[in-house]
Amino acid sequence: HGASEFLVVSNRLPIDRDSTDTADVGWRRAPGGLVTALAPVMASRDGAWVGWHGAPDEILEPFHHEGMDLIPVPLSSDEVELYYEGFSNSTLWPLYHDVIAPPEFHRTWWDSYRKVNRRFAEAAASAAAKNATVWVQDYQLQLVPRYLRHLRPDLRIGFFNHIPFPPPEIFAQLPWRQAIIDGLLGADLIGFQRPNDTANFLRSARRFLGASVKAQQVHVKERDDSISHIARAEPFPISIDVGRIQELAARPDIIARSKQIREDLGNPKTILLGVDRLDYTKGITHRLKAYGELLDDGVITVEDAALIQVASPSRERVETYRQLREEVEGMVGRINGQFDTIQNTAVRYLHHNYPVEEMVALYLAADVMLVTALRDGMNLVAKEYVAARSDNTGALVLSEFTGAADQLKQALLINPHDIDGLKATIAHAITLPKAESARRMRAMRKQILSHDVQRWSEDFLLALQNEAVRDDR
Ligand code: G6P
Repeated sequence: HGASEFLVVSNRLPIDRDSTDTADVGWRRAPGGLVTALAPVMASRDGAWVGWHGAPDEILEPFHHEGMDLIPVPLSSDEVELYYEGFSNSTLWPLYHDVIAPPEFHRTWWDSYRKVNRRFAEAAASAAAKNATVWVQDYQLQLVPRYLRHLRPDLRIGFFNHIPFPPPEIFAQLPWRQAIIDGLLGADLIGFQRPNDTANFLRSARRFLGASVKAQQVHVKERDDSISHIARAEPFPISIDVGRIQELAARPDIIARSKQIREDLGNPKTILLGVDRLDYTKGITHRLKAYGELLDDGVITVEDAALIQVASPSRERVETYRQLREEVEGMVGRINGQFDTIQNTAVRYLHHNYPVEEMVALYLAADVMLVTALRDGMNLVAKEYVAARSDNTGALVLSEFTGAADQLKQALLINPHDIDGLKATIAHAITLPKAESARRMRAMRKQILSHDVQRWSEDFLLALQNEAVRDDR
């Protein structure tokens, strides 16, 4: 047995190669709430993080970085293609997001997914101390709980799915649906973003495995009865590092930068903002369509309003993502070509990654935040915008198809498929009376401030501990 009392397992390690490091061996902690929430838990419990380091065909020894033990799992370039770009992001991702893009089913992808999941489980099994807790993250690793329980029945195993879980009517398409459900049921506690995801999973467990489900519990019978156990499924809506965003939003240099952004845009009355990974689930084309029509109708003009669309590069070798990029860039080009003046641009389209400081400056500059996802497990951008608006100004237009809509009920909720409704809501957001936007923002901030990502991880880990205790009896 290994030495770690607490292990996190995720497809990616929470680090990026630091390209400013000329020796080319340096790493930087990746931005993100999950690592902020878990780093202190790691430090206090002799923890380690198991994951891929992002470089195909490269084998790295475990190493220590900013108080965390990191255990790199290697992927060959074939595996990046079959397991990551293939099964994870061209089968599961579209299948779990309402088949917005058609999922592809290939047996070679599935074989690679199994093999890689097995490797992650083995890495975790050899690093974990006796009776350790292991927390597996997300859809790329759904078979890990099952493999891990077989390798190490002493472990306490949690799983959290960061993306939606589809209804059984859609999940049914997956040729390996039984194996996936069975993989997840290796965990003691299976967390989802929304109550709906939880219900979908339990319905699938019943339908495709004939599992006996009572309340939110599944009795998992094994041939070897000593590892029979109860798996519990429950919603734990994830959140953000609220303290960090608030801290940045109060920093004088970042406030100054937000004013500079407005000035650079020529002091428009209204700045609208979209921030997304360039992903077809985000509804970017729906947003652009609505915006273009509002300009065409004369409801807004390029002098009065500016839309900033940050679209960070993502999964660029996957064909559906390439097509989306073509489509988005074509639309932006047509809108700008039609409405730009020498002085003003309709849509500032930015296909870059920005540091969190610049993101917060953008949140502070934006009068209207547009989140129009067609399906999204949570959508942390919506929560970050709310956390940054400490003066209670600003309007959030939020798709009802995001997990965040469960918590941010005072947002201006929209159905992004309804272009007329979306247009009307954007127009409404631009002219929202101050008192109303303050009332809405205050209520949303109250929710976010008392539910940060630290609380999320505490809630999950406490439930996991209690679950395993219940099970011991
Ligand atoms: C989503 C998924 C994460 C994933 C992230 C970035 O948020 O839930 O698991 O890490 O997208 O995608 P990538 O494929 O670049 O890791």
